Amino acid sequence: MLWASLLLQGFSFSWAASSSHWTYEGAHGQAHWLDTYPDCGWKAQSPINIQTEAVHYDPSLPPVEPEGYRSPGSEALTLKNNGHTVQMSLPQTMRLHGLPRVYSAVQLHFHWGSTRHTGGSEHRVDGQVFPAELHIVHFNSEKYANLSEAKHHADGLAVLGIFLEVGNVENPAYSHIFDHLEDIEHAEQEIVLSPFNVRDLLPAHLGHYFRYNGSLTTPPCYQSVLWTVFHQAVPISAAQLEKLQKSLYATEADKSPSLPLMDNFRMPQDLNRRLVLSSFPAGPSGYSAGKVVAILFGVLLGCLSLFFAGWIVAKRIREKSIMDQKGVVFKSSSPRPTAD
Ligand SMILES: *[C@@H]1O[C@H](CO)[C@@H](O)[C@H](O)[C@H]1NC(C)=O
Ligand SMILES: *[C@@H]1O[C@H](CO)[C@@H](O)[C@H](O)[C@H]1NC(C)=O
Repeated sequence: MLWASLLLQGFSFSWAASSSHWTYEGAHGQAHWLDTYPDCGWKAQSPINIQTEAVHYDPSLPPVEPEGYRSPGSEALTLKNNGHTVQMSLPQTMRLHGLPRVYSAVQLHFHWGSTRHTGGSEHRVDGQVFPAELHIVHFNSEKYANLSEAKHHADGLAVLGIFLEVGNVENPAYSHIFDHLEDIEHAEQEIVLSPFNVRDLLPAHLGHYFRYNGSLTTPPCYQSVLWTVFHQAVPISAAQLEKLQKSLYATEADKSPSLPLMDNFRMPQDLNRRLVLSSFPAGPSGYSAGKVVAILFGVLLGCLSLFFAGWIVAKRIREKSIMDQKGVVFKSSSPRPTAD
């Protein structure tokens, strides 16, 4: 009995101290990440809510130029359920140009919500959330040997953030990944995929993006990421989104109960005076749907009140002229001479 309780205590201690144990909600949820991972409480964290009114347009920002994305070698790509997300390995021959350094790809992974509510993306634009977000992680290969080394340095990583939205048709590029989720239902399961065109996972326009300095959005939250968040979302079908939301468990196959893997997104973090750049004029000239509705409503209201004011004035004038006419009729009739 004593042994058992000592064993249990030892187990729970090592479980709590285990560096890999963190979740999005509950006792090890995002509000508690900083207890174990102090960087999560620092001042340049990700994700953020991008406020387009406060974004600084920098016309010198060039389009992002992916190299080797269309045919990522002959090496198999490993797709793994790591209990926090579904992650696919990428070969170092995939590189990013058009940033201050050349970066090599390491992996891509997803963040998503659940059918319970609409959210899922980590970044937001003017408060708007998307149902999911793809992150393609790269490290500064001009300066560092690999991801493990680079992630500790402020200029170490570059991540592409891609918003996913629901469209009318299936997106075949995403089927290369989503069609295999059922094979890696449980945590720690993985399969190999034959290489496919990874460029097609990206939006068509790579010239319109937001850029800022931030962090990994999961523990240990290192502040080593130069973020590129594309303005244009990529459409996937409702069925594809549902596959992502419903196929995976955060728990291993032999663990019971099985916990669904969903709602794996971190809340927006304080900007704290950081600068957010845009490669396109996103500010005053870019009107959100909400603003357009507000402006249209305002114009309509203005027209209506003008019309109403005009109508009242017209009515007054008409009433007055009728009164005048009556007066004229009355006046003119009183001295009317008799017929005889
Ligand atoms: C990463 O590079 C460092 C420095 O060259 C090396 O010591 C380390 O073993 C490498 N790690 C991996 C995972 O390859
Ligand atoms: C990111 O940080 C680097 C190094 O401090 C700085 O040179 C660069 O201008 C920053 N970029 C943005 C978009 O703020």
